[in-house]
Amino acid sequence: MIPPVASRFVAGEARADAVDRARALNDRGIGAILNLLGEHYDDREPADADAAAYEALLEAIDEAGVRARLSAKPSQLGLRVGEDVFETNARRVVEAAAGRDAFVWFDMEDHRTTDATLDVFEAMTQVHPGGVGVCLQANLRRTADDLDRLAGLPGRFRLVKGAYDEPTDVAYRSRKRVNDAYRDLIDQALRTHDGGVAVGTHDPAMIDHALEAREAHGGDLELQMLMGVREDAQTELAADHDVWQYVPYGSRWLSYFYRRVAERKENLLFALRAVLGR
Ligand code: FDA
Repeated sequence: MIPPVASRFVAGEARADAVDRARALNDRGIGAILNLLGEHYDDREPADADAAAYEALLEAIDEAGVRARLSAKPSQLGLRVGEDVFETNARRVVEAAAGRDAFVWFDMEDHRTTDATLDVFEAMTQVHPGGVGVCLQANLRRTADDLDRLAGLPGRFRLVKGAYDEPTDVAYRSRKRVNDAYRDLIDQALRTHDGGVAVGTHDPAMIDHALEAREAHGGDLELQMLMGVREDAQTELAADHDVWQYVPYGSRWLSYFYRRVAERKENLLFALRAVLGR
């Protein structure tokens, strides 16, 4: 069982917990992006098992009638085992989603995985046009060119600052440079891409920029944040905008919880306060 201190950030261990969380979010006007925790598999077996778990999740979402999408990590679907394994498992999940008119996001991992992830995303836009999306990271120097190349595809883009510690030859390292690149990418995406743009950020300045850019350029914009982070702001924004919450679940919750605490020590305090009811 997940201890109360971690349950601020993780829906639970079971698929049913994720679906329950989606239902509760829908009641607040927020969509759910459900992510089965798992990554960096070096063997095929867990990658195939997680692809099967995503198929079962799609069925559960359909049965429950909740407004929910999936998000999977490339290394969870077997990218480390082989690009072909990743593509096979991605196709399996995306075909299942297409049959249920559901949507699949691909998370983006470190820069060594970018080419393979974008290749598979591109292939999946042909399998389920309009039903897939991929994350693009503002800290990578290559991203404006990637967006330029991919802008016409029938898929959605989730723009984020980038969570991986990357070397300077491929990435911007200063906070200011990343923020500048992020604003530019938001403008570029809304100007050039009709398929839908999401901003995955908790940063009020970036959210304001995205809302202003949408006013200026038009376009289909959604706001995405993580479970347990700025929950009140998510509810407030959902009154006027399309808001989605990224909801992790599953038995591999411990490292995810540590990551949330490591990136922001206050997260532990918030979580403890929630447990203590103060
Ligand atoms: P950042 O950490 O730069 O903080 C800026 C400001 O935001 C802060 O000053 C504060 O005002 C506010 N803020 C941030 N965290 C807060 C908190 N915990 N509580 C209150 N205020 C807070 N990365 C990746 O590489 N690949 C991926 O696939 C994804 N996917 C993804 C999906 C979604 C839905 C989200 C929200 C994020 C990701 N990310 C990601 C992570 C992303 O790259 C980035 O590391 C984090 O979102 C942190 O950056 P921010 O833009 O949120 O703000």
